[in-house]
Amino acid sequence: MSTTHSRAVVIEQTGGPEQMHLIEAPVGDPGPGEVRIRHHAIGLNYIDVYQRSGLYPLPLPLRLGMEGAGVIEAVGAGVEHLQVGDRAAYASQPPGSYCDARVLPAMNVCRLPEDIGFEQGAAMMLKGLTAQYLLRHCKPVEGLQAGDWVLFHAAAGGVGLIVCQWARALGLRLIATAGTDEKCALALANGAVHAINYRHENVAERVRALTAGSGVKVVYDGVGKDTWEGSLDSLAPFGLLVSFGNASGPVPAFAPALLAAKGSVYVTRQTLFHHITSRARTQAMADELFAVVGSGAVQIHVEQRYPLAQVQQAHQALEARQTVGATVLLP
Ligand SMILES: NC(=O)c1ccc[n+]([C@@H]2O[C@H](COP(=O)([O-])OP(=O)(O)OC[C@H]3O[C@@H](n4cnc5c(N)ncnc54)[C@H](OP(=O)(O)O)[C@@H]3O)[C@@H](O)[C@H]2O)c1
Repeated sequence: MSTTHSRAVVIEQTGGPEQMHLIEAPVGDPGPGEVRIRHHAIGLNYIDVYQRSGLYPLPLPLRLGMEGAGVIEAVGAGVEHLQVGDRAAYASQPPGSYCDARVLPAMNVCRLPEDIGFEQGAAMMLKGLTAQYLLRHCKPVEGLQAGDWVLFHAAAGGVGLIVCQWARALGLRLIATAGTDEKCALALANGAVHAINYRHENVAERVRALTAGSGVKVVYDGVGKDTWEGSLDSLAPFGLLVSFGNASGPVPAFAPALLAAKGSVYVTRQTLFHHITSRARTQAMADELFAVVGSGAVQIHVEQRYPLAQVQQAHQALEARQTVGATVLLP
């Protein structure tokens, strides 16, 4: 037994950023199928806000954080893809990555290629694997080919900047939305072919104008309540609306007949954690992600860094829409 100690961010009750505080806690040895990792960087994600606020209810007290990168310190029985000393990164359940070191299931922990740094690794697993399944698995019935129009909301965010670049690499014509002109410019610089400031412009009207009336084949909507109607109204007939988040609040209930009225369109609500339920699938998705990052087609933009002890400020900035690209916490 080689118990070590770690700081960890915990909430005792749900609420605002002030509910998060640091504790000191022992970290034991990994059990079967587990590893102990010492973090060099920790990824911040909007899902952390939902778990902290109680929108996604979890048992309390709760340690937060679902993404990180660091060095493997100990390996439990039955883990064959990782060794002590390996550089590694992950997006994983259960939450608890806001810490110096932790034990977690090895299934979603991947060796980090040498040419990818710890900050990039910590910023790219949850967000990049999400970009992977959105672009590579969430297909409309008619398929998705180079030249097709797609719409992505909050395109200058963590997931957004990865999707913009990856879509460009796939030859998709991605229309971005964002909340400021600066964020629109950033999305354009990262591969979007048009950008709409959705605080000032009507999204569906602009999309119809840009696509000569046809609408887009797929809308990727992580904003939720505020963008829902515009998303439906931007779709081509038989188009696909992929709802994958609720940064502005959850989408209200709707009657299925609405989908017929909008052009016999399809709606799906996706979560990454249904895509990474096996080691093989996680690694295959990660390998694709590592390949597009390694080739330079996708750059991981870490634009905000906070010491772990300033996690409250990091959440405040994310919720106030003050961030672009990814944010990491540094132990
Ligand atoms: N289901 C999944 O598998 C999965 C996985 C990863 C992420 N996600 C979702 O993807 C979305 C993006 O995640 P992320 O971590 O990369 O965050 P992010 O995009 O970096 O930050 C969220 C962005 O949403 C926009 N937004 C619009 N209305 C907002 C509001 N009322 N309050 C706060 N933000 C608002 C803001 O951009 P503007 O200023 O440009 O509007 C903000 O910067 C989130 O909804 C997240 O939950 C889902």
